[in-house]
Amino acid sequence: MTATGSRAAEDAWSEPLSVPPFAVISGSQVRRALRDQEKRLVDLVEATYLLHAAGDSVNPPSYFLRFPDRPSARIIALPASIGGPVRVDGVKWISSFPRNVAAGIPRASAVLILNDHDTGYPFACLESSIISATRTAASAALAADWLSRGRERPTRVGFFGTGLIARYIHTFLAGTGWSFDEIGVHDLSAGSAAGFRGYLQRSGTPARVTVHGTGEQLIRSSELVVFATVAAAPHVGDVSWFAHNPLVLHVSLRDLAPEIVLASANIVDDIEHCLQANTSPHLAEQLTGNREFLDGTMAGVLTGRVAVPADRPVVFSPFGLGVLDLAVGKHVYDEVARSGELHVVDDFFHELRRFG
Ligand SMILES: NC(=O)c1ccc[n+]([C@@H]2O[C@H](COP(=O)([O-])OP(=O)(O)OC[C@H]3O[C@@H](n4cnc5c(N)ncnc54)[C@H](O)[C@@H]3O)[C@@H](O)[C@H]2O)c1
Repeated sequence: MTATGSRAAEDAWSEPLSVPPFAVISGSQVRRALRDQEKRLVDLVEATYLLHAAGDSVNPPSYFLRFPDRPSARIIALPASIGGPVRVDGVKWISSFPRNVAAGIPRASAVLILNDHDTGYPFACLESSIISATRTAASAALAADWLSRGRERPTRVGFFGTGLIARYIHTFLAGTGWSFDEIGVHDLSAGSAAGFRGYLQRSGTPARVTVHGTGEQLIRSSELVVFATVAAAPHVGDVSWFAHNPLVLHVSLRDLAPEIVLASANIVDDIEHCLQANTSPHLAEQLTGNREFLDGTMAGVLTGRVAVPADRPVVFSPFGLGVLDLAVGKHVYDEVARSGELHVVDDFFHELRRFG
């Protein structure tokens, strides 16, 4: 839209503006709002990728806050704005403190702020580790479905790194109709692998579950490989492990050496986002000086503009877009509001008369 066009659109608002009430939505409310809705959430993520590709979004680069005294930790801000039927602005503020895991608490914690489209006022603060895991898993399930359409549907899946995100991805695969004969598990931590195996057994999966002692065994025995580690630099570099052309959901983004990326077809969520912050595709770009190894985006696949080859490994590297958090977060807000359970903080905005 041109600057004049946007002003005209702003002037055309006929609704009187008012300050929206401010609500706080807890993790247990988020969980209730999202439970058993895997198919619906995958559809929501699909629609959001298409809106983003059509330009009906603003999604600047994520901002990484890092600390010299805590080099493994970070807090990321993902500001975004989305149009279409969602029509909301906001920011996710998500911490990653990997050392939490040894203390028995989750690595990631997050809040999502939703801002009103017309006044800019924040109108909700939502617990967002669940929203973040949900949108990530929904995008992985969407990719697993679309990127496997030109090949035999995988029946053997391998989880490389078995924390919260791996659990959510399995839940979303199972909840969207995937059924596996074999599930492979590999993690540097025996405790994580055992915990994930326990989760799989409780989930009622009919699959045979195998804990693999090496990443090589896991990859060679899986047609669908899910990377959900916290590796900061590539630790998988042998192209021959991928000779059977698996579909790879590279959710943790930094596990694969550039050689593997270059030997594969590569699909990302957003090219500019994904080619930064030393992700494996970013390293491949640095190595080659070009982006020719990229086949396209998920939106390109969804609209049929990008063909997915079956004669090479296929790697999906989703950087993780703030617009997905907004879409899922607004869905949660609407569900909680509909159920009449919004916890509104009545006097949150207090200084509301300009001259007192
Ligand atoms: N792309 C996205 O949109 C997106 C969104 C959310 C999370 N993530 C990423 O997903 C990853 C997993 O998140 P989580 O919350 O499940 O973390 P987590 O800490 O709960 O689990 C990570 C697991 O990986 C294991 N691990 C670490 N390095 C490993 C290695 N080299 N080989 C095998 N196992 C290894 C750890 O032992 C741990 O069990 C993180 O890297 C996170 O940044 C990506």
